[in-house]
Amino acid sequence: MKKEKVLEVNNLKISFRTPNGLVRAVREISFDLYKGETLAIVGESGSGKSVTNRAIMGILAGNGIIDDGSILYREQDLAKLSEANFHAIRGNKIGMIFQDPLSSLNPTMKIGKQITEAMLINGDRIKNKMVDMYHTEYYEYLNKKKELDLARKNAKTRIFEIQLDDTISKQDKKTQIASIKTELKVKLSEIKAEIPSFKKKYIEKKEEAKTIVKADVAQIKADEKVELQSLKSNLAEQKKLLETFTKDSEDYSNQLKNVNKVKEDIRNNRENFKRKLHVTKKEAYERAIEIMNEVGIPEPEKRFNQYPFQFSGGMRQRVVIAIALMADPEVLICDEPTTALDVTIQGQILNLIKNLKKQRDLSVIFITHDLGVVANVADRVAVMYAGKIVEYGTSEDIFYNPKHPYTWALLSSVPDLDTKEKLLSIPGTPPDMLYPPKGDAFADRNQFALKIDFEEQPPFFKISDNHYAATWLLHEDAPKVDMPVIVKDRIEKYKAQEKAFQQSKGAQA
Ligand SMILES: Nc1ncnc2c1ncn2[C@@H]1O[C@H](COP(=O)(O)OP(=O)(O)O)[C@@H](O)[C@H]1O
Ligand SMILES: [Mg+2]
Repeated sequence: MKKEKVLEVNNLKISFRTPNGLVRAVREISFDLYKGETLAIVGESGSGKSVTNRAIMGILAGNGIIDDGSILYREQDLAKLSEANFHAIRGNKIGMIFQDPLSSLNPTMKIGKQITEAMLINGDRIKNKMVDMYHTEYYEYLNKKKELDLARKNAKTRIFEIQLDDTISKQDKKTQIASIKTELKVKLSEIKAEIPSFKKKYIEKKEEAKTIVKADVAQIKADEKVELQSLKSNLAEQKKLLETFTKDSEDYSNQLKNVNKVKEDIRNNRENFKRKLHVTKKEAYERAIEIMNEVGIPEPEKRFNQYPFQFSGGMRQRVVIAIALMADPEVLICDEPTTALDVTIQGQILNLIKNLKKQRDLSVIFITHDLGVVANVADRVAVMYAGKIVEYGTSEDIFYNPKHPYTWALLSSVPDLDTKEKLLSIPGTPPDMLYPPKGDAFADRNQFALKIDFEEQPPFFKISDNHYAATWLLHEDAPKVDMPVIVKDRIEKYKAQEKAFQQSKGAQA
């Protein structure tokens, strides 16, 4: 069976301009996300996990820029989308939840309102239908305009780099910067010349769409009028009939039921017509209750009217997940979703995410600094260090057959599953991303580092079809290195646990 690719990140490079220079947060990473799978991105704090995923969501900080690469979602390049375009995808097709549920909730707003807010705000069905009709032309126009911004930002970054480079003489800096500026000018005027034709196409299509939906609305309203009229005349008849019966008689009470039934029909009819035009409050409420049930919030009708402070940490995270699910996303990005929670609650939220993935066939990106959390959640794992992916493979590959010394270090730092005791912390600290190292960024902290590790970036070596690691240790000329005993023990323990788990599953079946 061929797996369906939902998201494709290619050679993504992201930096931040800071007073001290360029922080190279993400250094050419690539990965795919398939339909219905959970990909874990694991690495110590500062390795670039959040930045990568904020770029996917289009919510990078203002001083950040995507220097290079692409983020393809269903063939659209998110890296080149304008802000406005992102609205259709962010929170809609791709949802994100964060470590601290409190920071994504408004403390002064009732939970129900927060869950239904986006659905109501984006609920103009006529407008949505209209935008659907011209969105291709509209996005092409906006993206063209966005090219201006990208060209300016790229030139800015290049100038910034030249200014910081001590190896270039003052005079050369001047010439180089001047030539970048001239280049930029030419580029900008080229783009500007193209914009009007894009605008024209979009405006034409929009006018066309307007005419179509206007006719739609007129039809809906006319239909409503006809139906309402017939219901109302029915009501009048039923009421007339009611008057012919003596009060308190059986006939009277039966007829009263008929009258009320027609009244209810009228109410439902009104609601249904309203729903053809926009999402109604009742509709949003019903959906919220349904989703709150799905994410395991008990007594949702009561909870709907409460404030965030009335919820526990675990329940708050469920609320945030509910908000993300309201739009029925295809991708859910979970950035350290359990890090702020205590261990039992952590397990519950992990299970919830696992079940949601299964039931909804969601694609999940699960970000964590704790490899221990990943074992039961992820189908595949990408290990990140200093802005790069250093190893990726299936969960089995990473847990049973790890190849990169950094993965070994992560494995040996996972708290013991029985004793909860932390075995080893990784010695040293990650490199300063203002000055990323030349070779393997982990070399400094790697007891197995070879000379070449300090000089040259290792390529990905293939271990199996799905399993790759970027370490010179896998080069055919490298000395043979055995993984540390502590990691070996760890792996044996994981294997034993898995076996016991499978056996207990078999026994239950
Ligand atoms: N707005 C910003 N300005 C400057 N540097 C930033 C900014 N946001 C993130 N960084 C830097 O980018 C690197 C990656 O950060 P991040 O993706 O948050 O790491 P993590 O893997 O812990 O999620 C870090 O060195 C961080 O300091
Ligand atoms: Mg982070």
